Amino acid sequence: MTDRKRPEQLRSHRWLGVNDLRSFGHRSRLRQFGYDKPDWDGKPVIGIINTWSDLNACHAHLRSRAEDVKRGVWQAGGFPVELPAMSLSEPFIKPTTMLYRNFLAMETEELLRSHPIDGAVLLGGCDKTTPALIMGAISMGIPAIYVPAGPMLRGNWAGRRLGSGSDVWKYWDEKRAGNISDADWNEMEGGIARSFGTCMVMGTAATMMAIAEAMGLSLPGASSIPAADSSHPRMCSNAGRRIVDMVWDDLTPDKILSAAAFDNAIRVHMALGGSTNAIVHVIAMARRAGITLDMDRFDEISRQVPVIANITPSGNYLMEDFYYAGGIRALMTELRDLLDLSCMTVTGKTVGENISGSKVHLPDVIHSLADPIYAGGATAVLKGNLAPRGCVMKPSAAEQRLCQHRGKVIAFDDYNHMAREIERDDLDVTPDHILVLKNAGPQGGPGMPEWGMLPIPKKLVKAGVRDMLRISDARMSGTSYGACILHVAPESFIGGPLAFVQTGDEIEVDVANRRIHLHVSDEELARRRAAWTPPKPHYQRGYGAMFAQHIGQADDGCDFDFLQAGAATPEPEIH
Ligand code: FES
Ligand code: MG
Repeated sequence: MTDRKRPEQLRSHRWLGVNDLRSFGHRSRLRQFGYDKPDWDGKPVIGIINTWSDLNACHAHLRSRAEDVKRGVWQAGGFPVELPAMSLSEPFIKPTTMLYRNFLAMETEELLRSHPIDGAVLLGGCDKTTPALIMGAISMGIPAIYVPAGPMLRGNWAGRRLGSGSDVWKYWDEKRAGNISDADWNEMEGGIARSFGTCMVMGTAATMMAIAEAMGLSLPGASSIPAADSSHPRMCSNAGRRIVDMVWDDLTPDKILSAAAFDNAIRVHMALGGSTNAIVHVIAMARRAGITLDMDRFDEISRQVPVIANITPSGNYLMEDFYYAGGIRALMTELRDLLDLSCMTVTGKTVGENISGSKVHLPDVIHSLADPIYAGGATAVLKGNLAPRGCVMKPSAAEQRLCQHRGKVIAFDDYNHMAREIERDDLDVTPDHILVLKNAGPQGGPGMPEWGMLPIPKKLVKAGVRDMLRISDARMSGTSYGACILHVAPESFIGGPLAFVQTGDEIEVDVANRRIHLHVSDEELARRRAAWTPPKPHYQRGYGAMFAQHIGQADDGCDFDFLQAGAATPEPEIH
């Protein structure tokens, strides 16, 4: 590179490199740590945003991985500083981590802005941490590299492989049907999560880590490395070395995140049969980058890209197998004719250069385009009078008979109503009924919880039924499966048409033609709307109240209105 930055041009120079009263304070406080001038002088300060916590086992290793990143930063002539940020622990945080994705995005952005940071290394992987860290880094605009936490090892029980989430849902139904004992269930509890790292199916975590890499934001191959593999700390120190050069070269996210980079990410998402949650997150990230992206683009790309990764919940293998098969670089090589190989990445090289030389080692894990595991496209975006702004479905994870279906509705007003009814032995339900859950969207949940895979009514589970058509304004876990229609927008809580669906109505779904229709006349819907009373707000104060005031709908990526791209935020004055 010709125009490398000079030390006086570093952001941190304003804090550390000048000679005034304030810089005396900054330097004396670094000396308080035991550092001395050669540690920082003229060097890029690298902020390591660490989402480690004692309640997030997916990130348990990030505490020491930050040290690996620091080793790389020192070696390359940078000055590493670790900044802890909120850890969005998918299993523990209630009501849902999605309530806090934008919170972490804001925290990331403001940690970087308010401190003397020249470049960022973002450590995360558990579901929403990935988009949150990236959204914050995009808005801040300094060079940043994303370090994925990586998937945990394969689960194991009684000689069988267990996949995070997916097998929990599966065996829970077997337990409800009386096919699994308490002792079996207890053994599974000890075998399903065998190491630190994220869920190891193609859930939201694996999907978002792969998407981040496909967009060019992590080192090549990084997102496929199992958390417990020694390649993982080596990748971390590589990232530490690389970010220092990215600062000197001023390789900022806007030079990487073009519209073509987002298209690459969506193509990879589809080929992976990735989580439906990614649609919300990718739209949010794109809009932070000032790129217009909507759900229709996902549908267009879905029609062009078959699912070729044979990974649960759409397929049979787990992320550890995917790594041995060659990982994301091998998958992208298989997809190369569909990708824009000229996109720039954090390596300073193009996508094409990054994937060159990789190949598929296990063809049953990563199929070829000519022999996909699902040809129909991973995600369908449906529209109709029930979802004027769209809704999504993952047909690759559903029983195919339900992709074209008309049935009578059983409607639930909220989660608790549904949870009570679903266990009743006398519920008037057949496998052809359509279950509808209301008030589970961004405002209604609140936070658009992962309730979209409504349980199959107990009565039907016992009779062997394992899939039904289910419709809601919720999301579903990326580990979930089934004929679940999600993200209905606008949501019911704010008076979207879903609010007016009643038990006994009929809904028709036609995935091939991307249609969803509520067979109720416009006049009748207008009458129901006029009689509708909006639910009471969930929060009167605090973060929840701010969330309710500013959260967007699913098709807009659920970002806060005031965080989307717009006027530049000024650098802080140093007084
Ligand atoms: Fe952390 Fe699934 S719970 S990735
Ligand atoms: Mg999840």
